[in-house]
Amino acid sequence: MDRIIIRGGKRLEGRIPISGAKNAALTLLPCALLTDEPLTLRNLPRLADVDSFGHLLNQLGVSTTVEGAKPDEFGRVMTLRASNIASTTAPYDIVRKMRASILVLGPLVARTGEATVSLPGGCAIGTRPVDLHLRALEALGAEIEIAAGYVKAKAPPGGLRGGTISFPFVSVGATENALMAAVLANGTTVIENAAREPEITDLAECLIAMGAQIDGLRTDTLTIEGQPRLHGATYAVMADRIEAGSYACAAIITGGSLDLIGARKDTMPSILSGLADAGGIVEDVPNGVRVRADGGIRPLSISTAPYPAFPTDMQAQFMAMLTLAEGTSLLTETIFENRYMHVPELARMGADIEVRGRAAVVRGVDKLLGAPVMATDLRASMSLVLAGLAAEGETQVGRVYHLDRGYERLEEKLQAVGADIERASDG
Ligand code: EPZ
Repeated sequence: MDRIIIRGGKRLEGRIPISGAKNAALTLLPCALLTDEPLTLRNLPRLADVDSFGHLLNQLGVSTTVEGAKPDEFGRVMTLRASNIASTTAPYDIVRKMRASILVLGPLVARTGEATVSLPGGCAIGTRPVDLHLRALEALGAEIEIAAGYVKAKAPPGGLRGGTISFPFVSVGATENALMAAVLANGTTVIENAAREPEITDLAECLIAMGAQIDGLRTDTLTIEGQPRLHGATYAVMADRIEAGSYACAAIITGGSLDLIGARKDTMPSILSGLADAGGIVEDVPNGVRVRADGGIRPLSISTAPYPAFPTDMQAQFMAMLTLAEGTSLLTETIFENRYMHVPELARMGADIEVRGRAAVVRGVDKLLGAPVMATDLRASMSLVLAGLAAEGETQVGRVYHLDRGYERLEEKLQAVGADIERASDG
């Protein structure tokens, strides 16, 4: 397994290109199943999860070709074509490694009338059930059976029927599955209490480019007029707001200034307001946003919640930044039940954090000290990198395969702005 070695204390300054969004890419890829025509996705990030999803789609009979992937280029162009569906089964050995595989469920049932998808099981940050995904398909007439760890879904004769899907609470993935199922259903579907994350809007805009009829974008109520078929399209993946927010924290925690090229401010309202509240300066630059430190870090009180509130995917990164704040911060994680695994690792570096149920009290300290630490999940691993960038001495972050799931060429991007960071293989 690889590890990242960081010698901290360097002020970061310069430009970081922001890649296509992992969480948009993982819901755009399965759209290829909804048509027999080619879907070309541009600005696709070079990430482990994207590759895994491509392999799953290949197993289902989707051809994938990658163009113009020069080694020094960020992002790729992938053309996918599901001329016909060779299999409607997403096997356990793939799904267990990448939970987002559950997102083939809706499109497979919409296109072929059936799907057999392994239950993804939990992960480090929580049990991650998929009950809302299943209820959404049932609302469109699908029959759902769970047997031997697999979900078997079957559309009624004639295909899925439009209906009303009312979510009891916001779920990004369930909204995505519902949307991809509804676009080919017979009749009108209304999704109530839909997630409003920018990645949902990206999905809807891609589906519209493919001929879908969807109203209510950016609201919590989506209305879909089902179509008999969709056609191919070319669509560019949106910039990754969480990657951009993560590097913005790097600017603040190192007392530096970073231009996040390609970042879209309109998708990051609560991240940028949080950075400003922490004492950062946020400015527009051509094709992006500049975030720079301006004196000490101010403490914050933040609760994670569905968009447009503060995203759970930024909680660990902000916590790393706030370990050096001039005062005590309070972070409350309301989305996932176990998303504080970065806390004991940050404590090894001298952070003063006390977890009380869903809340974490972060008392600012004067400095962090480099140490060997272990990544446990994607965003936790980024919080350890951020702490290492600010710490005195050397930090070694183990199990960086977690990082590779969500951050394209992280060392390269950070080296280019002055970080003393490298990757070492454990053989
Ligand atoms: C997506 O996960 C993201 N992943 C997550 O990002 C992100 O943290 C999450 O949305 C919240 O924004 C992708 O887009 C691939 P949810 P998802 O359904 O869809 C519960 C990262 O770091 N729930 O909105 O799985 C669930 O347990 C990853 O990039 C049910 O109870 O999240 C959680 O407590 C981590 N039943 C809450 O809802 C369901 O059927 C929100 O989950 C579905 C979800």
